[in-house]
Amino acid sequence: MRLPSLIASLLPLLPTALSVSDAGLGWNFVQNGTTGITALEAIVVSPTLIVIFDRVLGDPLQINGHQAWGALWNTETNSVTPLDLVTDTFCASGGFLSNGTMMRSDVLDASSDLRAELKADYLVFELPAGESTPPDQDGLMGLRIFEPCDDPAGVNCTIFENPATHHLAVKRWYTSTVRTFDGSLMIIGGIMVNTPFFSTQNLSASTFEFFPQKDRGVPRPSAFLDRSLPANLFPRGFGLPDGKVFIAANNQTIIYDIETNTETILPDIPNGVRVTNPYDGTAALLPLSPPLYIPEVLVCGGTNASDQLTNDDVNGTPSSLLSAQDPASDQCSRITLTREGIKKGWTVERMPEGRMMPEMVLMPNGEVLIINGGKTGYAALNGVRDAVGNSNADNPVKTPLLYNPSAPIGKRFSREGLPTTDIARMYHSSVSLTPAGNIFIAGSNPNGGVVTDVKFSTEFRVEYLNPPYMSVARPSLNKVPKKIAFNQKVSIPVSIPRNLNTSPGSIQVALMDLGFSSHAFHSSARLVFLEALLLPDKKTLEITSPPNNRVFPPGPAYLFLTIDGVTSTGTKIMLGSGASPPVQDQGIRLPPLF
Ligand SMILES: *[C@@H]1O[C@H](CO)[C@@H](O)[C@H](O)[C@H]1NC(C)=O
Ligand SMILES: *[C@@H]1O[C@H](CO)[C@@H](O)[C@H](O)[C@H]1NC(C)=O
Ligand SMILES: *[C@@H]1O[C@H](CO)[C@@H](O)[C@H](O)[C@H]1NC(C)=O
Ligand SMILES: *[C@@H]1O[C@H](CO)[C@@H](O)[C@H](O)[C@H]1NC(C)=O
Ligand SMILES: *[C@@H]1O[C@H](CO)[C@@H](O)[C@H](O)[C@H]1NC(C)=O
Ligand SMILES: *[C@@H]1O[C@H](CO)[C@@H](O)[C@H](O)[C@H]1NC(C)=O
Repeated sequence: MRLPSLIASLLPLLPTALSVSDAGLGWNFVQNGTTGITALEAIVVSPTLIVIFDRVLGDPLQINGHQAWGALWNTETNSVTPLDLVTDTFCASGGFLSNGTMMRSDVLDASSDLRAELKADYLVFELPAGESTPPDQDGLMGLRIFEPCDDPAGVNCTIFENPATHHLAVKRWYTSTVRTFDGSLMIIGGIMVNTPFFSTQNLSASTFEFFPQKDRGVPRPSAFLDRSLPANLFPRGFGLPDGKVFIAANNQTIIYDIETNTETILPDIPNGVRVTNPYDGTAALLPLSPPLYIPEVLVCGGTNASDQLTNDDVNGTPSSLLSAQDPASDQCSRITLTREGIKKGWTVERMPEGRMMPEMVLMPNGEVLIINGGKTGYAALNGVRDAVGNSNADNPVKTPLLYNPSAPIGKRFSREGLPTTDIARMYHSSVSLTPAGNIFIAGSNPNGGVVTDVKFSTEFRVEYLNPPYMSVARPSLNKVPKKIAFNQKVSIPVSIPRNLNTSPGSIQVALMDLGFSSHAFHSSARLVFLEALLLPDKKTLEITSPPNNRVFPPGPAYLFLTIDGVTSTGTKIMLGSGASPPVQDQGIRLPPLF
């Protein structure tokens, strides 16, 4: 077993190395089950269930006599249950609202959770002749609300849709979302129609809107989204700990103040590197730590290709100016969002390889897993020269990478002990941390339908990446309260395997939004470390919840305990009052960031 060195590389965050009396399997990939639809979007909705979405284009999974394009993936049984949707969910985003545990009048089981899941997206795809036409409606203004049940297998879970009464203000395809401090979702950008590659000035949805609506439903024009055309689809946005919103689009970045509707322009991402669709890099808000919760953003991959191009330049294969063999950017850029940090600007680091369409997954120990995508080319399909089958990208990266934000610069990336898969995860892939603590990976379909005879065929296989802690004795959080208010001390009974070092420096408690995975970005993904004290009997953990609803937007969250590098399973809680958005400010104020 390669364990000692492997675990040591996993744990540079911690002062002590893991005592490996329980020799586990180390990092490993396990393939198990198939989704029956392409999981091009994924969101964890309960301890055992992940909702996945696809477009309506001939998937084998069936429901009520037609193809399914939404489904529940059960992480315990590794099986799929189709969902019957009304509108096409192709290329959208979503998140949770603040009222996750509130009962709703039409919820069957009065004790059940209601987690609202919002999506904004696209339909109008002509089916190839001979395929049955499912009864899907245009989803460009679609809103879908997921009303989960407590049933771990998802029995009777449904998605509520009524396009006549519940819809967005404008058509949006390729939009992203941010859960904000008042528990609403902010819906960012997109384009009003399907586009072959770039967004365009006259068709861009260069606005923000909210769910539930603000401003009587009138979208807010965004000068930033206009300036960042044409490579600015799926903007990468985060709620900052003061309630403002950081957004990256193309090679530009801003901080947007929802309360004053003003933008502050930040420095461009260095070296002409562009990170939003169809030039997909990815971005993450690094873990926030007490007492100051200073926000830092990491932006990785993408391309330094020109954005002074139009759809005409790229679509006219073979005369197009971009190739699926163009190297992707290996650049990661990091900035601290304080006055001094912004003045200092971006710090550039280099991954061991370039990555197009990578996705970053926050791990409960504060490290960032970088996974999926290709070393060359671009996002989307049939746009550029040398397309591989239909894929604009090639040379899949099959070994994930870890980034340790607190290691010294130059020592942050590590591939040591990380396994290599044989499954390519190109365009239309998804990935998420699960409440069990491992990584769910699914999807990949850089094709205009279900295709089985190209290099990057439609991928239905699910794979898990298991961290080393999945195969050793793990700590557990017992009897966690279902609802926790802000700035509150809570005592939680815990069980800790004896071999683990419980010195204060080796204890980490992470509160997480597991995010919504779509197009190489995890909307609303967030990790806030909590103040934590293990009592001398080692049976009780005292934690303090986040100081206020800006440090962690109110709504559902998962609590993970890591001791000596070994992480518990995540327990779902409701953070805040559980009221419907918009909710009032709660907890205590922090000193301003600026
Ligand atoms: C796949 O999942 C099923 C259900 O959880 C389990 O019984 C089986 O052992 C798993 N197979 C592998 C190879 O892990
Ligand atoms: C949660 O808030 C949304 C938005 O206001 C609303 O549509 C939904 O009905 C609310 N749920 C409950 C249970 O109040
Ligand atoms: C699912 O719904 C059916 C029909 O309403 C009901 O009979 C059954 O008890 C429900 N099952 C669960 C697990 O909620
Ligand atoms: C948008 O602009 C493109 C090219 O600039 C043009 O072909 C198209 O007709 C325009 N669409 C609309 C709706 O104005
Ligand atoms: C960002 O892109 C624009 C448009 O292509 C370019 O003019 C600008 O120089 C780029 N910024 C940096 C820092 O490279
Ligand atoms: C653009 O990126 C490629 C791939 O990383 C690199 O080889 C090249 O030097 C970069 N060009 C510029 C001008 O930075």
